[in-house]
Amino acid sequence: MDIKVFPEYQQMSEAIANVIADTVRKKPDAILCSAAGHTPVGTFRHMINMSQRGEVSFERCTFVSLDEWGGITKGVEGSCKDFMYKYLFDPLKIKEENCIFFNGCGILEKECKMMNTYLEQNGPIDFMLLGIGMNGHLGFNEPGTSFDTYAHVAPLDKITIKVGKKYFLEEMQFSVGITLGMKHMKQANKLVLAANGTKKADIIKKLVESEPNDMLPATLAKTRENSFLYLDKEAASKI
Ligand code: PGA
Repeated sequence: MDIKVFPEYQQMSEAIANVIADTVRKKPDAILCSAAGHTPVGTFRHMINMSQRGEVSFERCTFVSLDEWGGITKGVEGSCKDFMYKYLFDPLKIKEENCIFFNGCGILEKECKMMNTYLEQNGPIDFMLLGIGMNGHLGFNEPGTSFDTYAHVAPLDKITIKVGKKYFLEEMQFSVGITLGMKHMKQANKLVLAANGTKKADIIKKLVESEPNDMLPATLAKTRENSFLYLDKEAASKI
């Protein structure tokens, strides 16, 4: 896991967007996957700017969803799908058929099967951008999730439920999510984990100092090649 530290969030975001753009220039029909969290929003902004300047086209890319809250889908502000449309797909004018998404209102096991089959037939993901949860989770792979999982229905950790409130205008009750599995993250051609801000400094210190173990899912990045940790100086302040 290569660690890259940038003075500001803006520079970190620009650097990640540049790597995504390079991936897409080399492979215009790349499969991309990003977390629907606040960490990648700056990266999305740069992707949109680059696309508007004609420096890269995401038209032929397929976007695969990372996760979704059980019981909600697009149309509910705060759903992962809604977040991705708002911050990336609508501004990039991505066609609906190029977005392979979990439906949090569907039969969740079926949704997982659909995603596993899609990736088995079309994968691996070419570029995966993940945030790191305050508890070290990746997607909804919470502490204790085996590194051998594919897409699955995941019981949500208390910290995830608490932190997740920031996405919603109203009080929501969640107990499960659906998520790509750790194996998808292991198999992606390139894996980038990113974190910014002092609130992430403790979990980043723990990640950097820990051996790979399933109680700290982000350590999966240490078990594979071509994996990177992008940080701003605040998130890196304790390492
Ligand atoms: P964040 O979420 O980017 O909003 O901090 C990270 C995560 O929970 O995976």
